[in-house]
Amino acid sequence: MQRQWIRLLMIFLVAVGVAIAGANLLASSPNIDYSTGYQTTDSTSTTASFVEFPPDYNQQFFQYATVDCPNSGIVRKMFVNQASLDTIATSQTVPSGTVIVMETHSAQEGAGGQLVPSQLNNVFIREKRTGWSVHPDSGEWQSAWYSPTGSRVSSGQSSCISCHTGVRDRDYVFTLPALISAAQTGQLQRQQTEFGTSVCR
Ligand code: HEC
Repeated sequence: MQRQWIRLLMIFLVAVGVAIAGANLLASSPNIDYSTGYQTTDSTSTTASFVEFPPDYNQQFFQYATVDCPNSGIVRKMFVNQASLDTIATSQTVPSGTVIVMETHSAQEGAGGQLVPSQLNNVFIREKRTGWSVHPDSGEWQSAWYSPTGSRVSSGQSSCISCHTGVRDRDYVFTLPALISAAQTGQLQRQQTEFGTSVCR
């Protein structure tokens, strides 16, 4: 009888231990949005992003690129504010005040194998302003992630910075060559991602 009690007590203690360990694990795991893999909160930087959602970018901005990610079935559309276009065309550099909006769409393969966007999922925005450095290797850019309707999903900077430092030689803009070509020719550039499929959400 006494043995039975000791065994029950042991089981109870182990169960409490497992529950506490589980709760700790949940609390300490980073806040990741598993549908995109992008981090929604920022543990390393508490700097709030000042990047606003431009409500009328669809009409007011110039779409300079469409980037297909065939393996993940994602199409990304890039827009830039009109006021920066002339400077980009002539100096091939991105001036302070530039706002780049990137929409990500799920897509299906259409006739001829080209991806056809079916649903807008996310709006990623990067804005450049003099003095806006938030990190030694992020240029003068700040980032924000919005839903298609303009509600902020995240203003965390570090997950955006971690990838965009890879193109510091392009002023942290992956699609800088397409942006310059589009600014110079007025033509939307269509291309496949140069950076493999793991980056495409
Ligand atoms: C996993 C790597 C990765 C992460 C993380 C990432 N990006 Fe990007 N981003 C890219 C790549 C690669 C491109 C170029 C488009 C392509 O090839 O699909 C890009 C393009 C962009 C563009 C268009 C301008 C440009 O640089 O070409 C914007 C705007 C953008 N990202 C915003 C963000 C924001 C905001 C975040 C953080 C919420 C973020 N990105 C996080 C890889 C990343």
